[in-house]
Amino acid sequence: MAKDEARETARDVTQARIAVVGAGLMGHGIAQVFALAGHDETITDTVMKNLDDVTKRIAANLRDLGDDPLAIARVRPCFDLAEAVREADYVVEAILEDLPLKQKLFAEIERHVRPDTILASNTSVIPITSIMEGLTHRERALGTHWWNPPFLVPLVEVIETQWTSPDVVDWTMALHKNAGKKPAHVKKDVPGFIGNRLQHALWREAISLVENGICDAETVDAVIKASFGRRLAVLGPLENADMVGTDLTLAIHNTVLPAIDSRPAASPYLQKLVADGKLGFKSGEGFRQWSADEQAALRTKVLLHLKESRDR
Ligand SMILES: NC(=O)c1ccc[n+]([C@@H]2O[C@H](COP(=O)([O-])OP(=O)(O)OC[C@H]3O[C@@H](n4cnc5c(N)ncnc54)[C@H](O)[C@@H]3O)[C@@H](O)[C@H]2O)c1
Repeated sequence: MAKDEARETARDVTQARIAVVGAGLMGHGIAQVFALAGHDETITDTVMKNLDDVTKRIAANLRDLGDDPLAIARVRPCFDLAEAVREADYVVEAILEDLPLKQKLFAEIERHVRPDTILASNTSVIPITSIMEGLTHRERALGTHWWNPPFLVPLVEVIETQWTSPDVVDWTMALHKNAGKKPAHVKKDVPGFIGNRLQHALWREAISLVENGICDAETVDAVIKASFGRRLAVLGPLENADMVGTDLTLAIHNTVLPAIDSRPAASPYLQKLVADGKLGFKSGEGFRQWSADEQAALRTKVLLHLKESRDR
């Protein structure tokens, strides 16, 4: 294909050929979403077993969700990285959360793709700037932060760096919108992007309430689930602030904010849990104790809830 034709193809998001690098928990789910949206794609992994399992894993999800089983035909597992990315208009990386590994991978990918192929990382917390700084064409690189499971949680944060071209941001937003996701544009590459900054501001205060003996862990969770948690899926905090009035919000903040935890480091209470080996589900105890049955029941409850809210 001539270079101009290739560029033309890359502009049309519905025709974009996709390569997913990393066939683990996130990679297989991301591939599933793009396959259902009609994209031809490759998926690659350095562990043959993970690649062997990927189509079975996606097929099982499609069956479970009642989605088109034929979508799996669009996913081509491919062990060789160069072959997997060569024809791609868009490459998304979902390998281990390890900066040197991701840097090395993108350097390798850049050797095999066109200069305008868009390159995205699904890192949870590593700055996109650090991952992409070594690239020759940094204007085509950005972050796309999906949430687990990718086929049930709608948000994808699209993170630009100081080098990302506005066209690349627009194209990537359109690609995810076309695939039925809710992309959110993150205009600066800050730690935690948007979603995890908000989530962990809440977790810091949740831990602090327990640490200071105001209530136990079960009560923290019960309070959230029985109050503003009920509204959160349909009423964001700033909509809520406007609804009650910015004047009331200001009065509340003047009283409450000085008392809220603002320590710029992980809580000593959390650090002690980890030091004592109380790692949560993994060890059977974290903030609370968890039997195997309780763990399974909570996982099932979350999955059912996400499935029920998928099309709302
Ligand atoms: N798990 C989550 O909830 C979640 C949410 C958002 C973002 N993320 C991020 O997504 C990325 C992937 O996480 P995951 O949970 O899917 O991990 P995972 O361990 O399930 O999958 C990672 C896969 O990458 C493969 N891999 C490792 N090095 C590779 C390489 N050089 N080339 C190709 N494949 C390689 C592994 O064999 C494995 O199959 C991480 O950066 C993680 O932080 C995870």
